[in-house]
Amino acid sequence: MIARTEEQRQKMRTAGRLAAAVLEMITEHVQPGVTTDELNRICHDYITLEQKAIPAPLNYRGFPKSICTSINEVVCHGIPSERALRSGDILNIDVTVIKDGHHGDTSKMFCVGRVPAHLERLVRVTRECLYRGIDCVRPGARLGDIGWAIQEHAEASHYSVVREFCGHGIGTAFHDEPQVLHTGRAGTGEVLKEGLCFTIEPMINLGTWRTKLMSDNWTAKTADGKASAQWEHTLMVTSGGCEVLTARSEESF
Ligand code: MF3
Ligand code: CO
Ligand code: CO
Repeated sequence: MIARTEEQRQKMRTAGRLAAAVLEMITEHVQPGVTTDELNRICHDYITLEQKAIPAPLNYRGFPKSICTSINEVVCHGIPSERALRSGDILNIDVTVIKDGHHGDTSKMFCVGRVPAHLERLVRVTRECLYRGIDCVRPGARLGDIGWAIQEHAEASHYSVVREFCGHGIGTAFHDEPQVLHTGRAGTGEVLKEGLCFTIEPMINLGTWRTKLMSDNWTAKTADGKASAQWEHTLMVTSGGCEVLTARSEESF
């Protein structure tokens, strides 16, 4: 979506702020022993009862829960379950809310208890990949600039970039044009324009970039069973660069 009116821009800011607030709220609950179903319930109740908003994943193309919870070798779209978190897990929580017809989509990684240094590094480098992508966003820049920045940092760190899933335009639709690839070549692809709203959400793997889909038809895991990390923000292109609509208070953009 290109938010052309101040009213549309304001609605995207509100949706983004609410999605970020869910991740801020859930942080204290992410502890060894808690199940991902419990995290889903807390987020669902907060979104519906406190925020008076809609959890976009619930019933989206048949997805059965209100958030995605992706642990260790799960690349994305993990379904909350009876699985309890254990010390040493890395967990992505992906939240999308709809408020006043507009979407805010964001995810972050959590290190549960004591996590091995090699997994902490994967989580950190993946966050840096997102931030390097965000740094590219301004009118006149091209989508390939974002993909290149992410791929370059991931591969220089001896990781791989997932190809099967990408960022996306967002607005009144959850997933819209354009596709925002996390690989690419600088100076190629669609030219960014002021008002464009989209996500960047790199999934970075310790081993191969290839994924496999589980029999639930949602959960995507790494083909080699090694760990994967992901961070996501929703952005709006402005005259001077971009607004990170889903920024959390722990971040400074
Ligand atoms: N939030 C995911 C994204 O970043 C999409 C989840 S689709 C769902 O695009 F159905 F699994 F929720
Ligand atoms: Co997204
Ligand atoms: Co998301």
